[in-house]
Amino acid sequence: MTRTKTVLISGGAGFIGTRLAKRIVGDYKVVLLDNLHPQVHANNAWPIDSPAEAVQLFGDVTEAAVWNAAISEHRPDVIVHLAAETGTGQSLTESYRHASVNVTGTARMLDALSASGHRPQAIVLASSRAVYGEGQWATASGELYYAAPRGEKQLVSGEWEPVGPDGEEGRSVAHNATSVEPRPTNVYAATKLAQEHILSSWCGSMNVPLRILRLQNVYGAGQALENSYTGVLTYFARQAIAGEPINVYEGGGIVRDFVHVDDVVSALSAALALPAAVGFCLVDIGSGSAGTLLDYAKELAQVAGSPAPEISERFRLGDVRAAYADIAPAQALLGYEPEVSFRDGVVGLLEWARIGAETA
Ligand SMILES: NC(=O)c1ccc[n+]([C@@H]2O[C@H](COP(=O)([O-])OP(=O)(O)OC[C@H]3O[C@@H](n4cnc5c(N)ncnc54)[C@H](O)[C@@H]3O)[C@@H](O)[C@H]2O)c1
Repeated sequence: MTRTKTVLISGGAGFIGTRLAKRIVGDYKVVLLDNLHPQVHANNAWPIDSPAEAVQLFGDVTEAAVWNAAISEHRPDVIVHLAAETGTGQSLTESYRHASVNVTGTARMLDALSASGHRPQAIVLASSRAVYGEGQWATASGELYYAAPRGEKQLVSGEWEPVGPDGEEGRSVAHNATSVEPRPTNVYAATKLAQEHILSSWCGSMNVPLRILRLQNVYGAGQALENSYTGVLTYFARQAIAGEPINVYEGGGIVRDFVHVDDVVSALSAALALPAAVGFCLVDIGSGSAGTLLDYAKELAQVAGSPAPEISERFRLGDVRAAYADIAPAQALLGYEPEVSFRDGVVGLLEWARIGAETA
């Protein structure tokens, strides 16, 4: 196949970026831009499985000169914007860093496009389910409401469930960008929503098609093991292979939707190939199912042959109680169908964590 189109992936040395590059490098000319952030890349090197055919650009997305050079030299047909600071809890104490990379980094990209006069055929943004905050809930009678953020005081007293307008417990509603409003509860989430707004404003005015994918919790082999700020399943996997019981926060009842990185890459690949006639696309990407962290920890421990998980009353500020996606819009727009079962994904994750532990 002739590779006529160029895809630039910012954050292209990261967990998702590397997998995406590997998947599409046969179909596109791929350019990777990354500053090999030390929190993600402890050895300060490009991942060994980053495809050799891809062009590797070392640079920081907050620097105008980096984007100017990347865009004027490669004139990408599509930009997949993945570079980001991603620490949920960390973003509450290092707000500037998160805002600088996620917000300024995005704006720098747009200014470089404006300065060069180059208009890509599409921009794809990996946004996050974090934008929903505690999200939408329903009372027993079906009345919908937005749960207030759970502050430190509430969490310290072990009151995990968000409460309704009359102080009652409700049931969570699946994230769906067409019906659930974003209401971020940590700075990382606020910066991801800011990225969405900045890109929608610019792309709308410049007639550049925009695809925003709000990803649920992504997991799989390749996720940074040494980065303690992201990836709860890698944290679980590390404990399991050390033969320790997995420590599950908030009484075990946090609800999550773990989507395998290969499925996310399928969604991103479909998004970057959408026809230009689709000017705007905003969808939620998940596995199609959800469960409590305790259930997932039990399954992971069973596969690993490690002791039964332990429920803990610990918590992390900025975490939300329940998050899972309604993937129907992504199925309709992108033909998205998640294929990797949790059990298969966990086998690969444990293998990756074992290799990491042996080589550490
Ligand atoms: N992994 C998840 O669960 C998840 C969930 C929702 C959204 N996302 C989004 O997906 C994207 C990719 O996430 P990931 O899991 O691959 O994270 P990652 O940390 O593995 O990858 C991010 C990459 O960006 C690079 N980077 C960071 N700051 C940079 C800067 N200033 N300049 C250039 N490069 C920089 C890092 O070196 C890293 O290689 C992010 O935008 C994240 O917000 C991820």
